[in-house]
Amino acid sequence: MSDRLLGQVAIVTGGGGAIGAAQSKLFAAEGASICLADNRIDAAKLVADEIQQAGGNALAVELDVRDAKGWKDTVNIAEDSFGPVGILCNNAGANFRVGFLEQTEEQFKQIIDVGLVGSFLGIQAVVPSMKKIGNGVILNIGSLASIRAGGGPGYAAQKMAMVGLTRSAAQSFAKDAIRCVILSPGHVDTPFLRGNNEHSPNDWDTSIDNLDNYNHRLKATPLGRLLDPDDIAKAFLFAATDEASMITGSMITIDGGAGM
Ligand SMILES: NC(=O)c1ccc[n+]([C@@H]2O[C@H](COP(=O)([O-])OP(=O)(O)OC[C@H]3O[C@@H](n4cnc5c(N)ncnc54)[C@H](O)[C@@H]3O)[C@@H](O)[C@H]2O)c1
Repeated sequence: MSDRLLGQVAIVTGGGGAIGAAQSKLFAAEGASICLADNRIDAAKLVADEIQQAGGNALAVELDVRDAKGWKDTVNIAEDSFGPVGILCNNAGANFRVGFLEQTEEQFKQIIDVGLVGSFLGIQAVVPSMKKIGNGVILNIGSLASIRAGGGPGYAAQKMAMVGLTRSAAQSFAKDAIRCVILSPGHVDTPFLRGNNEHSPNDWDTSIDNLDNYNHRLKATPLGRLLDPDDIAKAFLFAATDEASMITGSMITIDGGAGM
């Protein structure tokens, strides 16, 4: 525990998920107060409890990131509990791993709505809070699909569009000392790739429980192991601190070389 984020307030979407939970725990250990926002409130509560038990400040809020009113309520709760919000981590995401011609319009729209529209709404909701402080950091999660096609049509479109959203926010709010960065993980061992979740269904053909799929992703990672959520959280921490004070509008890849 040190104090690289002492006194900061962060909203972390997908805080009940693997990468969001790792960020939340690391940011809290560095002194930030964390508002974990997730539509799976029970998962977010478990992480908030763990942080509190370790002596940190955290609360869980039920939020569907597609809901603009829900975003306003979330920011109000975070401000009332901890003060103005200086850090936003947009992690919430969805994917349906089917072929281009098989992906339904509903699936395509859900991927875009959760990942892209949800992040847009989050930025709109949180920037006024950042302006109260006089600075802020918005950290959007990308993917290898932010660099090249992958993960199906909806996912490829959503993750590539995050680059544009990041640059637009970075350009719009630089005058307010608000930075915006996209961080793109490679193959991270999480329920997103392993489990059969509503937001990210997997079966034997797609799950990394299937060793063939696991080894395929391993082989695609030159540094020789799949990433774990802490690898991603450490890069988010760097991007959130003043060590990254002149980094905005750009992408940081954390992928063991998979995107080369
Ligand atoms: N795991 C990987 O290999 C990998 C690689 C690159 C990028 N990513 C991205 O990382 C992010 C987090 O993924 P993860 O691996 O931690 O998976 P995860 O499934 O553990 O976490 C995803 C979280 O998003 C939440 N979520 C989904 N829809 C939501 C909604 N409408 N409103 C609020 N929350 C919602 C889920 O409840 C879950 O807690 C995703 O955006 C994913 O695309 C993951």
